[in-house]
Amino acid sequence: MEKGDVMISKKTILLAGFILFFAILVIPGALADNSCLNCHEKLSAFSEKEKELNEVRIKHLARDVSCSLECHATTIDKIAKSNYEQWTKSKHAMFNVTCNNCHGGNPDVDVKEKAHIGVARSSDSNSSVFYRNVPETCGKCHSNELSQFRNSAHYQKLKALKQAPTCDTCHSPHEFKILKSSEFINLCSQCHNQDMRIAPSDAPEKAIAALENAEKLKNETKLADSAIKQALQNGKDVSAAKRDLDTAISIRDSLPVLWHAFDLASFEKVIADGVTAAKKAQEEAGMPVSRPKTPGFGTIMSLTGIIAIYMLLRRR
Ligand code: HEC
Ligand code: HEC
Ligand code: HEC
Ligand code: HEC
Ligand code: HEC
Repeated sequence: MEKGDVMISKKTILLAGFILFFAILVIPGALADNSCLNCHEKLSAFSEKEKELNEVRIKHLARDVSCSLECHATTIDKIAKSNYEQWTKSKHAMFNVTCNNCHGGNPDVDVKEKAHIGVARSSDSNSSVFYRNVPETCGKCHSNELSQFRNSAHYQKLKALKQAPTCDTCHSPHEFKILKSSEFINLCSQCHNQDMRIAPSDAPEKAIAALENAEKLKNETKLADSAIKQALQNGKDVSAAKRDLDTAISIRDSLPVLWHAFDLASFEKVIADGVTAAKKAQEEAGMPVSRPKTPGFGTIMSLTGIIAIYMLLRRR
């Protein structure tokens, strides 16, 4: 019996090992089954600047200057791979949104010339990544952001061939991150400033204030949520409170998309509606709305004054 147990465990280990080996062999292959990724991951220098650096490197090689050689090699590698590397850090990589989704081309062939059919540089006005075509390219997947963006002054200016931001002005390639307000103030003031007079200079501050109010709405919904949980434990009827909380939550979740209309007045109004709904939910769940006032500095000072005068009068 004991011998049999040992046999089984040996077999199990062998089987597990085989499965692991098979997984290592097959899974990355399946994930990376995209010629754009396969090839661009290994790319070396190709742009004009990189070619220049490469020539310097070759000259150094001829003169046997070994130190600089290494420096140039890393610079060249960095530039050539940066698109790919930034992309690997993005949410797009996580969700399998690959190069061809934005650039076009054929990801099923390994030959560059064939894979690149339909791929055009961003300087080409017909390219899917030409700045004025970018909203429609992103909008294939981000249709809600696109439809809000189409209502914006930014989009109108963009289509009128004026200076205006497109999607990747703010969500820079190839990480395509969501910016926090602390990160975008400098970005907006490239156009929104006193000197250029192409866009109102107070827009960035107003935009940051609006996004901060959106944060406040998040806090109010959290408070309402915990008040409702508390009320439920106390056996209260919370149906009205829940309805108002749902309203507040759906407003909260619509904000990141709505933001792209860049209409701060109506954005603020929607937030205010959300805050009202959240506060109503808090009240309906029995949460004390206005907290008991603690005596302020002024009150304390005047009380102390009165006591002091009283003490002085008594001494006489
Ligand atoms: C066999 C290698 C290879 C494959 C496959 C490949 N590329 Fe490239 N790609 C390159 C090289 C090399 C360059 C540098 C420019 C050149 O030499 O044409 C480049 C340049 C680019 C550029 C810069 C624009 C330009 O024309 O220079 C983009 C964008 C691009 N590739 C996207 C893609 C996409 C999207 C795919 C998949 C559909 C893809 N590539 C597949 C090797 C490849
Ligand atoms: C979500 C869309 C998106 C994805 C995914 C994407 N790109 Fe791009 N890429 C862009 C945009 C937009 C630009 C133009 C940036 C600009 O105007 O400076 C660009 C520019 C480039 C350029 C510079 C050449 C040019 O035409 O300006 C290269 C090279 C490039 N991408 C390669 C890649 C590679 C390789 C991948 C995959 C690893 C990839 N991109 C994935 C949107 C994307
Ligand atoms: C093929 C579909 C597709 C295209 C095209 C596309 N995206 Fe995305 N994008 C996604 C998916 C999927 C996600 C991840 C899920 C989510 O957050 O909704 C995402 C996420 C994002 C995020 C959130 C990132 C984060 O860190 O949470 C931003 C910002 C973004 N995309 C911007 C862009 C921009 C700008 C373009 C055009 C240059 C673009 N996307 C093109 C599918 C796409
Ligand atoms: C590339 C230039 C550029 C950048 C960058 C830019 N904007 Fe604008 N913005 C404009 C232009 C141009 C207008 C249109 C002004 C007009 O209607 O005369 C505008 C209009 C606006 C408006 C509408 C103002 C109104 O009163 O109707 C808001 C809000 C706005 N921008 C916010 C922002 C924010 C926030 C950022 C940064 C995250 C930003 N913009 C970045 C160029 C830019
Ligand atoms: C002027 C700057 C600017 C432009 C232009 C812009 N965005 Fe955004 N985007 C932002 C900011 C800031 C946020 C974060 C908003 C928030 O937290 O409420 C954001 C959020 C997002 C998100 C995340 C939404 C979510 O549900 O969390 C996506 C996706 C996105 N943008 C895509 C796009 C697309 C697509 C375009 C072009 C059609 C675009 N953006 C144009 C600044 C911009």
